[in-house]
Amino acid sequence: MSHSVALNFADGRTFFIAVQEDELLLDAAVRQGIHLPLDCREGVCGTCQGKCETGIYEQEYVDEDALSERDLAERKMLACQTRVKSNAAFYFDHSSEICNAGEALKITTVVTAVELVSETTAILHLDASSFDKELNFLPGQYARLQIPETDDWRSYSFANRPNANNQLQFLIRLLPDGVMSNYLRERCQIGQSLMMEAPLGSFYLREAERPLIFIAGGTGLSAFLGMLDNIADQPNQPSVQLYYGVNTEADLCEQKRLIAYAEKIKDFSYHPIISSASELWQGKSGYIHQHLDKQQLQQQCFDMYLCGPPPMIEAVKSWLDEQSIEDCSIYSEKFLQSNTVRT
Ligand code: FES
Repeated sequence: MSHSVALNFADGRTFFIAVQEDELLLDAAVRQGIHLPLDCREGVCGTCQGKCETGIYEQEYVDEDALSERDLAERKMLACQTRVKSNAAFYFDHSSEICNAGEALKITTVVTAVELVSETTAILHLDASSFDKELNFLPGQYARLQIPETDDWRSYSFANRPNANNQLQFLIRLLPDGVMSNYLRERCQIGQSLMMEAPLGSFYLREAERPLIFIAGGTGLSAFLGMLDNIADQPNQPSVQLYYGVNTEADLCEQKRLIAYAEKIKDFSYHPIISSASELWQGKSGYIHQHLDKQQLQQQCFDMYLCGPPPMIEAVKSWLDEQSIEDCSIYSEKFLQSNTVRT
């Protein structure tokens, strides 16, 4: 029996490997060309340590000098002592470059549709079936797309989950004058080829053991769509609150899809928030942090995921600090308007 395992690195690169049920994670990685740092191979030196972010695993000998009780409780692990018992994801806090892991995948895709989903947002549909296996990525990760006939690349979060046919979606903000926006408006044709590099990024859904709070700004929503698709299919679903902030009502997109998650995820709530609402808007207005439930967040541990423009993310983090809300894990991905920079 073989499990699919994602190895994530601090430089945002992810490599998927197959790990046999009785195989050590380190051996499986090396067998597939990813040379994780190692020294003793005995569970003593700690050189091969990482952290399991999703999935079931067991460890053999772990010396207390390599990992403390607290480390173990935080799911830190030694690759030379770890056997996986399910599909899983591990994070290593160093660059993939020291593993001689090679390049990220570059795949030729084909444009199958450009769907206008709000006045300012489109979904680009790409067929990546030229890749002869199912393209693996973790919901929330992103790809770099090369704008045809240019040397320009832009980064976009996947807006769906991996699937057998490699049909991919990306939510893209249409700027008045952006290199991707101009391409989509003026030159994009169905059937055109487009290069993609993926999977990338360390913003992805971890093992959900606590209630989840998702905070999306603008097309930051894209990263959450794949996560929600994934959660909707799980037997043990965590509770999820989604806050989605945009500038005007016309910027809201994928409303039917978002509302439909309430039927697929048993404890799901959705809160659209408009910062510059018209008089006709009857929902929440202002900024997301103004609508978070202070009392609830002070009483309950939770995991918070934020994806969107830097001011939104900073405002929410500052608000959490001001309320002295600490019993939470926070994962965030900031991106600029051109989608070229992620931090
Ligand atoms: Fe020393 Fe794994 S290589 S603990």
